[in-house]
Amino acid sequence: MTEAWRPDDEDERRGAIGPVKVRVPAKVNLHLGVGPLRRDGYHELNTVYHAISIYDELTARRGDTLALTMEGEGTGELALDDTNLVIRAAHALAGYAGVLPHARLHLRKQIPLAGGLAGGSADAAAALVACDALWGTGLSRDELAGIAADLGSDVPFLIYGGTALGTGRGEAISPVLARPTSWHWVVAIAEVGLSTPTAYRELDRLRDSGAAGAPLGSTDALLGALRQRDPRVLARTLGNDLQDAALAMRPALAATLKAGEAAGALTGIVSGSGPTCVFLAAGAADAERIAAELTAADVCREARVAHGPVAGARVG
Ligand code: C5P
Repeated sequence: MTEAWRPDDEDERRGAIGPVKVRVPAKVNLHLGVGPLRRDGYHELNTVYHAISIYDELTARRGDTLALTMEGEGTGELALDDTNLVIRAAHALAGYAGVLPHARLHLRKQIPLAGGLAGGSADAAAALVACDALWGTGLSRDELAGIAADLGSDVPFLIYGGTALGTGRGEAISPVLARPTSWHWVVAIAEVGLSTPTAYRELDRLRDSGAAGAPLGSTDALLGALRQRDPRVLARTLGNDLQDAALAMRPALAATLKAGEAAGALTGIVSGSGPTCVFLAAGAADAERIAAELTAADVCREARVAHGPVAGARVG
């Protein structure tokens, strides 16, 4: 839905466009196959990304400098300076398009920090889409995804959304053929986040010492399940090579996974590098019930229901 656009006074005098509001989803990895460590410090990935209905929202207005404010998840913890991915994304787009990086940006965060849901990457994708509209640079989604790849491995996927295959270090995206089915998820958010680089290092350590589980195979079974409508079939094909690492770093997650399955989830996995756990439910009502039970069981900070796939970063 596009909100009626009303320029503020200053914008109106200048005949400028704005404000632009962009909504961007969180992601989970339905399959996260982690290959060897590359010379550039990244791991080769074979992943299936899936965008779910937990959103951050970025509003961009005309300004004389580049400034970022925020509210919601992570306020007071997240630096709002040049290290913030939103600011880095705005600079990257301005540099590419040859415009001044001037905007007043406001972020409303619902995606938790360091949760394995790509919240920071989502915000970078939102900044690219919002500033492209604000500045009238008119880049294609593929061009924006090209800029996105330099900002983080998950950022290109969040420009597109839906369900998609990610290869390389995760930045090379190709769409997945799937039936137009909506899957129902329960997202169990932990009290304290986990660092992504640390989770990858922990997986390397577990593999070096022979303590890691067998790596995931191909995505064929998952891609086949996505072409059907049966969540029970999909449940059998979800997997995450980083899960062992997340569990080694945060043993309490085993209780969270167990509680979700005891509450009737078809399966539960750690999302990305964790510590968020995601559970597949048979339907919307089941998801609500599982979320309530997880909250009552006190095995997470908060349990939210979500559905997917949803679109990537979009104006409106
Ligand atoms: O790409 P992004 O900046 O989100 O990655 C954060 C960190 O996660 C990297 O610095 C790296 O340590 C780890 N990573 C990895 N292999 C990938 C993606 C991320 O080792 N394919």
